[in-house]
Amino acid sequence: MSETDLRKRLNELRRELHYHNYLYFVKNEPKISDYEYDQMMIELRHIEAERPDWVTPDSPTQRIGAPPAEGFVKVRHPAPILSLSNAFDAQEVRAWFERIYKLDPRVARADYVLEPKIDGLTVVLHYRQGVFVQGATRGDGYLGEDITANLRTIRTLPLRIPVGQKTGIRNEESLSESRPLIPDYLVVRGEVFIRLDDFEKLNQKLEATGERTYVNPRNTASGSLRQLDPSITAQRPLTLLCYAIVAGEGELPDTQWGSLAYLRSLGFPVPQAERYASLDAVISAYSQWVERRDELPYETDGLVVKINDLRLQSDLGVVGREPRGSIAFKFPAREVTTRLLDIGVNVGRTGVLTPYAILEPVEIGGVTVKQATLHNFDFIADKDIRVGDRVHVKRAGDVIPYVIGPVRSARTGVERPYLPPQTCPVCREPVEHYEGEVAWYCVNTACPEQLIRNLEHFVARHAMDIVGLGIKIVEQLVAEGLVGDFADLYTLRRADLLKLEGFADKKADNLLAAIQESKSHSLARLITALGIRGVGEVVAADLARFFPDLDTLAKATMEDLERIEGIGPNIAQAIVDWFNRPANVRVLGKLRAAGVWPREKIALEKPAGALPLAGLTFVVTGTLAGFTREGVKQFIQEHGGKVTDSVSSKTDFVVVGENPGSKLTKAQELGVQVIGEDRLRRLVESGEIG
Ligand code: IVH
Repeated sequence: MSETDLRKRLNELRRELHYHNYLYFVKNEPKISDYEYDQMMIELRHIEAERPDWVTPDSPTQRIGAPPAEGFVKVRHPAPILSLSNAFDAQEVRAWFERIYKLDPRVARADYVLEPKIDGLTVVLHYRQGVFVQGATRGDGYLGEDITANLRTIRTLPLRIPVGQKTGIRNEESLSESRPLIPDYLVVRGEVFIRLDDFEKLNQKLEATGERTYVNPRNTASGSLRQLDPSITAQRPLTLLCYAIVAGEGELPDTQWGSLAYLRSLGFPVPQAERYASLDAVISAYSQWVERRDELPYETDGLVVKINDLRLQSDLGVVGREPRGSIAFKFPAREVTTRLLDIGVNVGRTGVLTPYAILEPVEIGGVTVKQATLHNFDFIADKDIRVGDRVHVKRAGDVIPYVIGPVRSARTGVERPYLPPQTCPVCREPVEHYEGEVAWYCVNTACPEQLIRNLEHFVARHAMDIVGLGIKIVEQLVAEGLVGDFADLYTLRRADLLKLEGFADKKADNLLAAIQESKSHSLARLITALGIRGVGEVVAADLARFFPDLDTLAKATMEDLERIEGIGPNIAQAIVDWFNRPANVRVLGKLRAAGVWPREKIALEKPAGALPLAGLTFVVTGTLAGFTREGVKQFIQEHGGKVTDSVSSKTDFVVVGENPGSKLTKAQELGVQVIGEDRLRRLVESGEIG
């Protein structure tokens, strides 16, 4: 490709990637598949690797991987980054109105914008000629810290504005009727935070791999933004909403409502906002927000009431660091204190032990709370939480309430320090700790609690989906000794079930039918159902794409597994360990014997960008019609495969022709897949395997 063409392609890729990134992360309406997106990203990386001098800070490739900074450099804000005064009820909001009305009678005719007060971290984003060039924390309001590299990793942060427009030409996807004017210089204020659902997912993932879970979204967001290594920030699900223009050149909106619309038209994510013509309307809207606050996807502690007219806002001036023209209208507190009566311990599916607080019941925002999470044993020790303490407890959105810490000043001396259990609270076997992990585990595979959790997971809707097999029946089956592992479900007999309380003919037949039906589920579901640490639905689906059945997966090495995108050493190790455990080998044998052995009939995908046969080992035997001996070897190697002479458990495929030798027998003995040359061609051409 000529230099000009390469440059053209580079620009085209960047434009496309910015656009699809925006559709995906900001609009939530992707128009292309992840695969297509990845392909474009790979191509762009190739070009940039060839021409490093063409790499620009706004390139989509720059969201990750900038080298760690030495420390943070200070940045002076173009205007003070102010905070807000608080009102805790309608009366205080009216008092605010009276105060400012006295200062300026225009307030009587003012209208207002109401926005959620997002519980995150203020950031100040600088754009020059539409390119994101610098971003800072709030700091002391005058000087912030330069966290540009970290901010670049946030997918919803526009690296270049306007985003959302594929080309300069207007098209149906364009964001506004006319192309917005981009000022040469624009400084935007926003809030960086982690959504509640992303936070839960992050913790579930960490829990599954035995890592330390995070205590709350705000601290996690703050810790992530202040990482010296941006590649760590990139792994956290940070997001952003922008709500103010701090400085800019050229004509800028003169109302808050107009600012939000303008920011939105440039492609910035903005909070949902409402506009009201009077303070009474604001106050009644507040009551509705209080009701609906659990529906918000992030933590909030109130609303921000802003005088819409920005001119009036600025004329009203500032008291201390608080502008008079806006006020935070706080929601009723969701943080209370109560007594920690005791600490309980749950045993999870993987045997991980998690402590939870047993609380003196307390009402938090209309919900009676009796239990709250204590995260992990280190948290209890770090915070020096003692049984009998008064503790701060918080409830946000729909997430499980959590303990924040003790009220040390309320101690009377009767509080008892807590020691983690040395034995499993259910089976009483000693607990263990893995190197590099914070969690403690019950490693007794026969622990009834683990067995129950495992079965519960195995039959769940997203796994083997055995309808009608609820937790109650699972507990009965375990208690009666009818199942000792999940493979036993498939050999249950009608007579066994009829012995259980509450079982009559029909119920037993329905359950047996549901168990039978689950045999036809996909390999991905079965892999999910096995409950390997760190292997959820997504990883399971990836594995099923690479390994046609459990046999091949069982033989996979760390190296094979780590070749798959999204599988790191922790998960790879967990998979290898799982398949090596004798108890699991036995369960697999039982599953196979019971006919629970799905084989994936879908495309055998290779890591994006890799050759179609990459990672596969072949042995050829017999005479092929369309290839010479050397020719077939070359063909396989050219497409990324490896050719060896003898068949072993590491062989993925044996390609057979006329008059095959003993290699075929060996392949059959070892259960290695035997294919013809046509299938080999198809593997290369379409990735098809069946
Ligand atoms: S306006 C002069 N709007 O709340 C403008 N602030 O205690 C003052 N915050 O430090 C800020 N959501 O980090 C504004 N929609 C929103 C907000 C918001 C969250 C934070 C901001 C500020 C703090 C004020």
